[in-house]
Amino acid sequence: MYEKIQETASWLKERMTTTPQTAIILGTGLGQLASEITDSYSFPYSEIPNFPVSTVEGHAGKLIFGKLGGKDIMAMEGRFHYYEGYNMKEVTFPERVMYELGIKTLFVSNAAGGMNPEFKIGDLMVIDDHINFFPEHPLRGKNFPTGPRFPDMHEAYNKALRDEADLIAREKGIRIVHGTYVGVQGPTFETPKEYRMYHILGGDAVGMSTVPEVIVACHCGIKVFGISVITDLGGFDNPVKVSHEEVQEAANDAQPLMTEIMREMIKRS
Ligand code: HPA
Repeated sequence: MYEKIQETASWLKERMTTTPQTAIILGTGLGQLASEITDSYSFPYSEIPNFPVSTVEGHAGKLIFGKLGGKDIMAMEGRFHYYEGYNMKEVTFPERVMYELGIKTLFVSNAAGGMNPEFKIGDLMVIDDHINFFPEHPLRGKNFPTGPRFPDMHEAYNKALRDEADLIAREKGIRIVHGTYVGVQGPTFETPKEYRMYHILGGDAVGMSTVPEVIVACHCGIKVFGISVITDLGGFDNPVKVSHEEVQEAANDAQPLMTEIMREMIKRS
């Protein structure tokens, strides 16, 4: 695995004309930010050696390099979900490569179901913490030399970056909420009782990504900032139907505000 990571990083380095220290993962329906990257060049995942091959039609995905908020960045348009059938080493392969490329800060976004009764559809939730419900751990197996065998996770989501997001939201008059993200394997959305259970356990939002990527980034010493776009609400007195289309639509509507916060944070970083 380590050789593969090195090989992929070398392949990219030979072709990169910029030296980003910031990476962004764009979640479901949150691709708009990609169109704001200037001086960009990109590589389809299918062309990058050892990159997992996408299983979902229309989710081909690419790695984009360029400038955002005046800084060199790299962005993943499309991520690898566990429910698609990838193992955890594949799901988190890009973060291992990011480390080799010199990435110091990772911005992650996702669409998530809201369980906190204060939340509304379209809210942006700064991720303060997560609860890992995936059935396989991304660090299972021989330890990678990038970090300790038993990594600390007391501040997986960087506090200074969370504070910065509050400041920017206040300045720009954007409503943001804070909470704990519960990571589950999917692909089913939750039953009403499952939403309720995750909320009782301390979760404010639930989704099918992010947690493995953040764990590996932490293991590599990469600082993380995460935002969930609340695309549906479950678990309350009226069980509601949730669909992928509705999730995409709500994420799409919330994109401009999320993009504004991310851009400003990168500019000030
Ligand atoms: N549950 C799990 N994943 C999700 C949800 C949800 O309600 N909404 C968007 N992704």
